[in-house]
Amino acid sequence: MSRLPIQIKLSDSKKEKPDPQTLVFGRNFTDHMFIADYDEGKGWHSPRIVPYAPVTLDPASIVLHYGQTVFEGLKAYKSEDGTVRLFRPEENMKRMNLSLDRLCMPRIDEEQALHALTQLIQIEKDWIPTLPGTSLYIRPFVIANEAFLGVAPAKKYQFYIILCPVGSYYKEGIHPIKILVENEFVRAVKGGTGGAKTAGNYASGLKAQEAADKKGYSQVLWLDGVERKYVEEVGSMNIFFKINGEVITPAINGSILEGITRKSILQLLRHWNIPVQERKLSMDEIRGAYENGQLEEVFGTGTAAVISPVGELNWDGYKMIVNDNKTGPLSKKLFETLSNIQNGNEKDSFAWILKLNSELAKLA
Ligand code: COI
Repeated sequence: MSRLPIQIKLSDSKKEKPDPQTLVFGRNFTDHMFIADYDEGKGWHSPRIVPYAPVTLDPASIVLHYGQTVFEGLKAYKSEDGTVRLFRPEENMKRMNLSLDRLCMPRIDEEQALHALTQLIQIEKDWIPTLPGTSLYIRPFVIANEAFLGVAPAKKYQFYIILCPVGSYYKEGIHPIKILVENEFVRAVKGGTGGAKTAGNYASGLKAQEAADKKGYSQVLWLDGVERKYVEEVGSMNIFFKINGEVITPAINGSILEGITRKSILQLLRHWNIPVQERKLSMDEIRGAYENGQLEEVFGTGTAAVISPVGELNWDGYKMIVNDNKTGPLSKKLFETLSNIQNGNEKDSFAWILKLNSELAKLA
């Protein structure tokens, strides 16, 4: 398909950039954003980069009532020599199409979306922070903006990309977080939308998240929606357990998000010849391992969270303190390896990095 030219309208003024030392997640946005429109019968059209600004939506827009929307999350880094590096962006575009399919929304052209993304980042490259632990978070998303109150797939959509310089997702930074195992509410069941990156999955998790927060826990650990027995994922990341020398993570089953960081960590572990299993893992098994002194490490993985060690798991009041509430050696090694590949301090042996300068040259 021939590539649609992107219209560019630059902002007259530039915002002040936040102090990288005190950067938080998701509060600061850059000067520009990307938008494209979709109309049934016409397809995607009018791709443009415009000054970052609030958007106008008809109050009857389908997204506002029935949540027909999907999103992605990925990051850009700047290495010491100034090269801009994107981590596996083609995987995000692929996954976005799977989510779009699930929500009855039109697919995007992955190559065009990647082109739009690289153009936008080229314009905003001064916004990429370089302090260790910081990056430019990229949030592509699609919304149904047709004004209609019937429950049906929309005939009009908009695709946006916004950018956000970020620090650590959790206030704990790279220190272990505390997680509450959720016994009352469920996130998703097989056949539902758990495998898609769609707003409703996150909105439905807020009630449990709020209750956990009040008890001093950063996140909840979701169990399977049928038996409430098997571990699924954490609110904003996939989860891994190191038990007796072996690393176990729940297998992708239709209700768990197929994380790109999860997939990369599995690749790293296998490359290091560390035994790995993707399978069902019950809370009873985790408790048994804890009581036998075999629960060595627990960590979450995600784009926003990177690698986040877990220091405490609370299951119905039974507290499991993992590795003395300290970051374990494997979590540390994974965090360092992944961060170093992302920011250019380590060789990209798996070809995970797209360098912006070479990508733009290829697309020119
Ligand atoms: C990400 O890690 O990019 C996510 O999408 C998690 C998000 C809900 C903060």
